[in-house]
Amino acid sequence: MSIIRLVDLLKNPENNQEVEVNGWVRTFRANRFIALNDGSTIENLQCVVDFKKTEESLLKKINTGTAVKIKGKLVESMGKGQSLEIIVEEIEIVGESDPETYPIQPKKHSFEFLREKAHLRVRTATFSSVMRIRSVLSFAIHQFFQNKGFINVHTPIITGSDAEGAGEMFRVSVLDAKKPPLEDSGEVNYKEDFFGKETNLTVSGQLEAEAYAQAMGKVYTFGPTFRAENSNTTRHLAEFWMIEPEMAFCDLNENMDLAEEFIKSTLKYILEKCPKDLEFLDKRQADEEKTKPQSMRSEMGLMEKIKFVVENDFKRVSYTEAIEILRNSKPNKKKKFDYIIEEWGADLQSEHERFLVEKHFKAPVILFDYPAKIKAFYMRMNDDQKTVRAMDILFPGIGEIVGGSQREERLDVLEKRIQELGVDAEELWWYLDLRRFGSTPHSGFGLGFERLVLFATGMSNIRDVIPFPRTPQNASF
Ligand code: 4AD
Ligand code: MG
Repeated sequence: MSIIRLVDLLKNPENNQEVEVNGWVRTFRANRFIALNDGSTIENLQCVVDFKKTEESLLKKINTGTAVKIKGKLVESMGKGQSLEIIVEEIEIVGESDPETYPIQPKKHSFEFLREKAHLRVRTATFSSVMRIRSVLSFAIHQFFQNKGFINVHTPIITGSDAEGAGEMFRVSVLDAKKPPLEDSGEVNYKEDFFGKETNLTVSGQLEAEAYAQAMGKVYTFGPTFRAENSNTTRHLAEFWMIEPEMAFCDLNENMDLAEEFIKSTLKYILEKCPKDLEFLDKRQADEEKTKPQSMRSEMGLMEKIKFVVENDFKRVSYTEAIEILRNSKPNKKKKFDYIIEEWGADLQSEHERFLVEKHFKAPVILFDYPAKIKAFYMRMNDDQKTVRAMDILFPGIGEIVGGSQREERLDVLEKRIQELGVDAEELWWYLDLRRFGSTPHSGFGLGFERLVLFATGMSNIRDVIPFPRTPQNASF
């Protein structure tokens, strides 16, 4: 007989079926009832041990956290709370667990506590649900693009250029940090470093994806990206995963259409594939909401929120229109915002983004045509010479989930922008080549994967939707 996973067993149960399962003990009650979980589903399976026929020494080893292998008969349960249970015929202790020191006790632990135990937190119902949804979302993303004929490109992790021009990069070096080789000027001599130049972990695969789009038409990357920004918020990680499609012969409107269709399709997919995990997280979120004051509670439950996004059009609003709305808004007039919006050109803070999404439009919002001076060098200049063809998608409870743009395909305009913004043009020689040889109007965007998982699971801290979060002052595990 081979081991059957709980998710498969519970899908197609047959009464009196002989089964063999394995997993970890979540609880052991009354020397008789094991709640077993193998990580394949949110559901535990009750396994009933006959303590009269089982040795005392073995019973003592069945504790929360113990790994076991069980053979027995699947029957309809007589007890409340579950429809099926296994009458245990044979139980093998595969790995013992000391109940005194095992950190994951069968009680409510705070997420802060569990972050310190990130190697064990996935043994809880909440984290295993989140990680299963994360996995299904990842699959849905590849499926969406593959079905549309996009080619998956693995862009480099180590890079010599700063795609976003924000300078928030982690250096990659093999030089002796205590005694690096110096140039006559006293500066570190990176010519002696591994790559013969300064290199960093990538902040985005976009620039390399553009090169591939300019030959293969439609491509996407889905990989880790790294940002050394000191943002200690519930929305920022130093290492996060990003999905970046890039399309040749594509303008900003088509780019926005694709981004909207993409997000809706992945969320629709988890509604179909993960109903049990979503139900569980929906209830978890509802319980958490009850602990908040009435005015802070969100109006929709998790599933309701996801369905709302899937079924409704995103609102498309230009930056200029958004500034007008914000300038005339109550919190701006009453000086309730930390950053008061006074004039056109102001960068939007998350308080402004949230006002637009949660209070004004009450729907996801796509903001487009931002002032050139607050956006990256590669975005296409509009005829007004003031704004660029940028777009950000803002989500309720999340803020910015997507950042994208139509790219500047005109060599002379791009060169001018690079110069104005003081970007290192030498590093970008190959990027400029793409404008020299068969340049096309092209567009793309980046979706922060963890921000999507955050929205899809109703969790409130981005550290709780990635297995081992990297944040300022924290790279444990
Ligand atoms: O807006 P960003 O910086 O855009 C880019 O990197 C472009 N090169 C994308 C492109 O056009 N191909 O980042 C894109 C998205 C953000 O909207 C956000 O969802 C996520 O990446 N993101 C982060 N997620 C977690 N932690 C951080 N520190 C993040 N920084 C950005
Ligand atoms: Mg952005």
